[in-house]
Amino acid sequence: MKQSVAVTVNGTQREDLVEPRMLLVHYLREVAGLTGTHIGCDTSQCGACTVLLDGRAVKSCSVFAVQADGRSVATVEGLAATGTLHPVQQAFWNEHGLQCGFCTPGFVMATAALLEQNPSPSDEDITKGLEGNLCRCTGYANIRRAVRSAAAMMGGQAAAPTGSPAAAPAAAPAATAGS
Ligand code: FES
Ligand code: FES
Repeated sequence: MKQSVAVTVNGTQREDLVEPRMLLVHYLREVAGLTGTHIGCDTSQCGACTVLLDGRAVKSCSVFAVQADGRSVATVEGLAATGTLHPVQQAFWNEHGLQCGFCTPGFVMATAALLEQNPSPSDEDITKGLEGNLCRCTGYANIRRAVRSAAAMMGGQAAAPTGSPAAAPAAAPAATAGS
């Protein structure tokens, strides 16, 4: 039997009926129509499906949609909601942190979460923060460079993605990367 879920996605409240076994990634892609969140594996390893759940990076293929009930989800679509690239997106563009781009939304969201938690990460912090995300194209040098560039662009002050709790006025920063 379907269950009702109320989820704030990229700052917009939604209510939908879903099967209890529906994964959050399928909810976002098939119900909410947000196909920027990718499915790259069936083993919860690649991180292509990374989104922020209440500001925390999670692999949306390992979360049920019903677990997002009453919570906020930020996807890659929410980052450039104003029509201007988020600094993390701009940095990946500038530093050629992608080739095929399939893994990129996951890296971008994991990076946004990392920088929100740690605005000036060391190389070791970056490696650890992105350890849950795999890229088969680029190697990781440009991706690390993009993260450092994004941190510099943000002046050590991470910008909260739209729809994350920290995007709200006076909200406390809260994010964990590398899930
Ligand atoms: Fe690969 Fe979620 S689709 S970790
Ligand atoms: Fe192709 Fe990362 S850019 S998998």
